[in-house]
Amino acid sequence: MAPSPNSQPAIESILQEQRLFEPPADFAKDAAVSGADQYQTLYDKAAADPAAFWAELAEQELHWFKKWDTVLDWQPPFAKWFVGGKLNISYNCLDRHLTTHRRDKPALVWEGEPGDSRTLTYAELHGEVCQMANVLKDMGVAKGDRVGIYMPMIPEAAIAMLACARIGAAHTVVFGGFSSEALRDRLNDAEAKVVITADGGFRKDKAMPLKPAVDQALAGDAVPSVTNVLVVQRTKQAVDWTDGRDVWWHDVKPEASNDCPAEPMDSEDLLFILYTSGTTGKPKGVVHTTGGYNLYTHTTFQWAFDIKEDDVYWCTADVGWITGHSYIVYGPLSNGATSVMYEGAPRASNPGCFWDVVQKYKVTIFYTAPTAIRAFLKMGDQHPNARDLSSLRILGTVGEPINPEAWMWYHNVIGGEKCPIIDTWWQTETGGFMITPLPGAIATKPGSATKPFPGILADIVDAEGNPVPANEGGYLVIKHPWPSMMRTVYGDDARFRRTYWEHIPPKDGNYVYFAGDGARKDEDGYFWIMGRTDDVLNVSGHRLGTMEIESALVSHPAVAEAAVVGRKDELKGEDVFAFVILEGTHTASDELKVELKQHVVKEIGAIARPGEIRFAAGLPKTRSGKIIRRFLRNLASGEELVGDATTMEDQSVLEKLRTDG
Ligand code: PRX
Repeated sequence: MAPSPNSQPAIESILQEQRLFEPPADFAKDAAVSGADQYQTLYDKAAADPAAFWAELAEQELHWFKKWDTVLDWQPPFAKWFVGGKLNISYNCLDRHLTTHRRDKPALVWEGEPGDSRTLTYAELHGEVCQMANVLKDMGVAKGDRVGIYMPMIPEAAIAMLACARIGAAHTVVFGGFSSEALRDRLNDAEAKVVITADGGFRKDKAMPLKPAVDQALAGDAVPSVTNVLVVQRTKQAVDWTDGRDVWWHDVKPEASNDCPAEPMDSEDLLFILYTSGTTGKPKGVVHTTGGYNLYTHTTFQWAFDIKEDDVYWCTADVGWITGHSYIVYGPLSNGATSVMYEGAPRASNPGCFWDVVQKYKVTIFYTAPTAIRAFLKMGDQHPNARDLSSLRILGTVGEPINPEAWMWYHNVIGGEKCPIIDTWWQTETGGFMITPLPGAIATKPGSATKPFPGILADIVDAEGNPVPANEGGYLVIKHPWPSMMRTVYGDDARFRRTYWEHIPPKDGNYVYFAGDGARKDEDGYFWIMGRTDDVLNVSGHRLGTMEIESALVSHPAVAEAAVVGRKDELKGEDVFAFVILEGTHTASDELKVELKQHVVKEIGAIARPGEIRFAAGLPKTRSGKIIRRFLRNLASGEELVGDATTMEDQSVLEKLRTDG
């Protein structure tokens, strides 16, 4: 069976894409990995013996309190890396730089939405992380506990993550755009002891409250594990206060010591849980552990961004997503780089905002999502052209397939035709980049993530796991464990096994990791990602499960049944389209549509708000009662139906679905 990706952005134009951009010669000559031959040598060496390859890097690149006994313990599908080794990622991100020239180098450069800013050197960041770590300890947080982080994009978000890592508590960051309900579910699943939050943050020109969502999530002892809430003051909005539970950061900080030794962690100790959407059920807690994650994010950051000592690196993601974890906080800081954090977001009211930040801080490496690129493209060239972007030397993209038009605009207008573009394919589950150009080594093709990172054995297979010929669509799989792979679904090994490792049936005990993406490999071995093959949507680079949105809709009293599909969207890549069947006594109206959209926002968050709701009398179902989503996708896009409708239970349903009712 060939995969049927939910979204195939500009797939025809991608298929015809022939342009090839060689790494500029002056760039390649200074690059850490320079030229196709060097990449191939590294790749072959890693593929011949992945464990030896990673062990050599682990020795060379990280500080270990104690060296490991075994590099890789692989009991499919459970991997352990650097077994017996002891380290602390906060030590690798901070302490080890303090004895070098990096002590006074900016670690975090933060630009606030209203134009305020702050720079923390490595020494300063270390001090604040220690202070917060000591505050957490005073709250009774110990090694092995979990801490929820629900923050705007301010330095304290990174400080909180590093403070947890320092004392061996696992963090679970919940994106600040998620609702109180979503926050409650995640805090409960992780059994968090403390929540770190802020009064609010600035979002698109407005102060947005955050603390009230925490209060709501915790109300009525709904999350019994939480004993304290640590609150950072950001917007100075009035907040409700629960004495004995809530603590202001600025009240306790002055008394907290800026010395807190980093806890020696076992390489396989839990570092963080990050929830992400899947095909079925509640979001799953993706588990990442310490040693392998540290090494892999460190190495991928170093090679793919070709990091140099004086680079100013900016990733525009939110720390609430894996991109923020791996490539705002851990990867850059482990390398001693300068990482820019920005509280703002692209918006029509400030169409030059990103380019102002690039100009102000002389950003050299810029990493963003295709959605943002498309939004800026639409706002016009005059905005970037009016700023000095000459500092840029590498551009990156992540989160969704990039259409060649957006790629070319990024290359020409933002990169001045001189910056390699790295299109990085990876996932929350993979921890770090899996398929990406190394900018000095691999020629790029607009729309292709190009080649696997050394040590990553990627392939395209059919449903039985057989490799498919060049240029044929199939399932993207990884055939060997890698250091930062997710270890399990938090509390649910069976779901981990089922979702990722048994989807493609293991042959002769050989398990392959199933990514959930459709892709093809061209005659040059370049990978082209086509989009999800499951019921996961990618809206503006944000991952959403159709089931989650359907559950949110049916939790409204007016809704009897709901089916959600993705519809192609020029800006967002994909948009949420919901078909809704009402409970008997309720009648369809525009007001009800607005109310239902708002209900989804309340249940999940604004990122899940349906772009369109269509009321329906019935849904297309097979005789066995399964919703035929393919037809719904066709209907949502106003396309002709693809496929055979004769298997349907009730043929008249389809006609009625073309319009409301
Ligand atoms: O479908 C792929 C898409 O984003 C999914 C992973 O989403 P998430 O776990 O939220 O992580 C996003 C940031 C790493 C993938 O299964 N995706 C990610 N990067 C790309 C991409 N699709 C195409 N090209 C990419 N570069």
